Amino acid sequence: MQLFLDTANIEAIKKYAAWGTVDGITTNPSLIAKEGVSLESRIKEITEVVDGPISSEVVATDYEGMIKEGREYAKWHKNIYVKVPLTEDGLRACKTLSSEGIPVNVTLIFSAGQALLAAKAGAALISPFIGRLDDISQDGMELIAEIVTMLSNYSYDAKVLVASVRHPRHVIDAAQIGADICTMPPEVFDKLIKHPLTDIGLEKFLADWEKVKDLQK
Ligand code: E4P
Repeated sequence: MQLFLDTANIEAIKKYAAWGTVDGITTNPSLIAKEGVSLESRIKEITEVVDGPISSEVVATDYEGMIKEGREYAKWHKNIYVKVPLTEDGLRACKTLSSEGIPVNVTLIFSAGQALLAAKAGAALISPFIGRLDDISQDGMELIAEIVTMLSNYSYDAKVLVASVRHPRHVIDAAQIGADICTMPPEVFDKLIKHPLTDIGLEKFLADWEKVKDLQK
């Protein structure tokens, strides 16, 4: 499974990219607003750090506006994936941009039916938001299983990108189901790497080594 970072924070992107485990980046208007930066300059900065799909979301809500923004974003770098919402205009924009060779990430997916439509419209990535479903007492992971099973019957180009991830269990469950990609905020990357027994084990190894280090010449 590919792991993406769900942030527009350039310091975090540099930090986790250095681990060698970041395959791509997802951003959205809220994440850009949190950083208080220009979308274009931040996305361009990210392309210099991560060599993989980088999602940049349109803010237009009409077809023409989405196409205009999407074509513009695509000029910034070869790795740009244009993110469009799952709306009627978003589906149309997905079809048009995809047919022009611009990869599209269809976002704000909350049902298998929406995922099927996005796949049929030529999406390269489809983003079901599991955390937001969990928030309203629906099992987000059940949706991932449903979409992965459904798409395995066909040969759409669409990859399933698990989004709105809140904790490491989400990541492991998504991997067991066989989702293609999981995008997660930096805090979840931190929680994935941490285990108290690793810290205790290392401390013990180093303490024992102290006893014999002078014999190592
Ligand atoms: C990813 O593409 C989405 O923008 C993101 O995962 C949304 O996460 P949230 O529900 O935590 O805002």
